[in-house]
Amino acid sequence: MIYIAHRGASAHAPENTLEAFRLALDIGAKHFELDIHQTKDGELVVLHDDNVKKLGASSRKVSQLSCRELRALDAGSWFNTKFKGEPVPLLSEVLDLLGESSWLNIEVKEGVSVYPGIDENLLLLLKKKPTWRNRFSISSFDHPTLLKLRSLDAHIPLGYLLGFTSWRHAWKELSQLGCESLNLSWRQVSQKWVRAAHAKKMKVFVYTINSPEQVVRLEKMGVDGVFTDAPELGMPLWSALGGTN
Ligand code: G3P
Ligand code: MG
Repeated sequence: MIYIAHRGASAHAPENTLEAFRLALDIGAKHFELDIHQTKDGELVVLHDDNVKKLGASSRKVSQLSCRELRALDAGSWFNTKFKGEPVPLLSEVLDLLGESSWLNIEVKEGVSVYPGIDENLLLLLKKKPTWRNRFSISSFDHPTLLKLRSLDAHIPLGYLLGFTSWRHAWKELSQLGCESLNLSWRQVSQKWVRAAHAKKMKVFVYTINSPEQVVRLEKMGVDGVFTDAPELGMPLWSALGGTN
């Protein structure tokens, strides 16, 4: 079972900020997840929402802001004032911070219909970071974007976020895509999905898991990894002490 630090150590620091990723590294995490969007001027930035309401700046969309405008906002205070002034990071900054022994799941939040060219921009950025080869996976609820990515690169590792897609439709898309993993929510996962995914040589990753009891259930099901806001959940000493959140 792998433990993927969901938006960094987002139980303890503002999600998707450099502070959240630094803290996850300090805790000992080796696997990470983050969400990306694209600014008006084509920069790939790391935040969950497609708007900046949480950052205290009206409800403007990321797609309407330049990178400079977005990074002038405060991505830390909503979580705790001690993080005041923490900027929205660039994807390239997080890649540089995580270094060479990490694995990263990059979730493309909105796809090519909202952010034209995000697929090509992302592949270009990853190509510029050769040390990241084979250490990432790109996932999305937006399946046309996954199909576009697959058409651009036959080998890039993809994760299929099921969302509200029906079993039948998902299976059709999965046959076209050749994904490395099927990513499901805690409410969706079942033995049926795990068996079917494994039969297709896909791993199953489940979000968002913050308690040891949930982990025990998922381990029994044969789930391969969990996204957790509290990466200490996967650390041997903490688990042995029966830690709680
Ligand atoms: O990729 C797993 C999970 O992050 C998907 O949902 O809303 O937390 O990005 P969300
Ligand atoms: Mg996510």
